[in-house]
Amino acid sequence: MAQNNVAIYPGSFDPITNGHVDLVKRTLRVFDRIIIAIATNPGKDSSLFSLEERLEMVREVFKGFNRRIQADSFEGLLVDYAERKGARVIIRGLRAISDFEYEFQMAMMNHRLKPNLETFFMMTGESEFYTSSRLVKEVVSLGGDVSGLVPSNVLKRLRQKFDR
Ligand code: PNS
Repeated sequence: MAQNNVAIYPGSFDPITNGHVDLVKRTLRVFDRIIIAIATNPGKDSSLFSLEERLEMVREVFKGFNRRIQADSFEGLLVDYAERKGARVIIRGLRAISDFEYEFQMAMMNHRLKPNLETFFMMTGESEFYTSSRLVKEVVSLGGDVSGLVPSNVLKRLRQKFDR
C-alpha cells in the first residue's frame, strides 16, 4: 500500500466517541490507512483515561480493521510525528462553527511548521453533531445516559470510572 496514502487522525480521544468512529469509517473511503494518534503530554495530562486505556478502547473498537486502522500515541509536535510516519495528511473533524477557530489556528500553525502537510476536514455525521468527549464524561459523571453516543466498550468503562 502506498505510504503517501496514510492519514493521521490525531486527538485526545478521552474517550473515543461514536462521532470519532463515524469519521474514521468515512475517512477510509479516501485513504488506504489511518493512524489514530493519541497525543500525550507527560506531566500535564489531565485526561480521565490513561493513555493505555485510551489506546485499548480504540483498538477494541477497530479490531476488525487491523490492516487499515492503527492506534498509536505520540509526544511532541504532531507535524514531526506525521513526518516520521510518512503521512502527508492530518484529518480533523468539524462539528459546529464553534470548532472552526481552534481548528483553523491549528491547521495554519501546522502548515507553517510543515508546508507539505495538509489538514483535511471532515464534517461530523449528523447524529454525532453534538457529541464530544468532554460532554459525554460530564453527563456520565452526573448519572446521565450516553448509550448510542459512544461504543459499548467505552460506555462500560465510563460507567466503571464513575461507579454508575
Ligand atoms: O482532541 P483534541 O484535544 O482536540 O486534539 C488536539 C491535538 C492533540 C490534535 C493537538 O493538541 C495537537 O496536535 N497536539 C500535539 C502537540 C502539537 O503539535 N501542538 C501544536 C498544534 S498547532
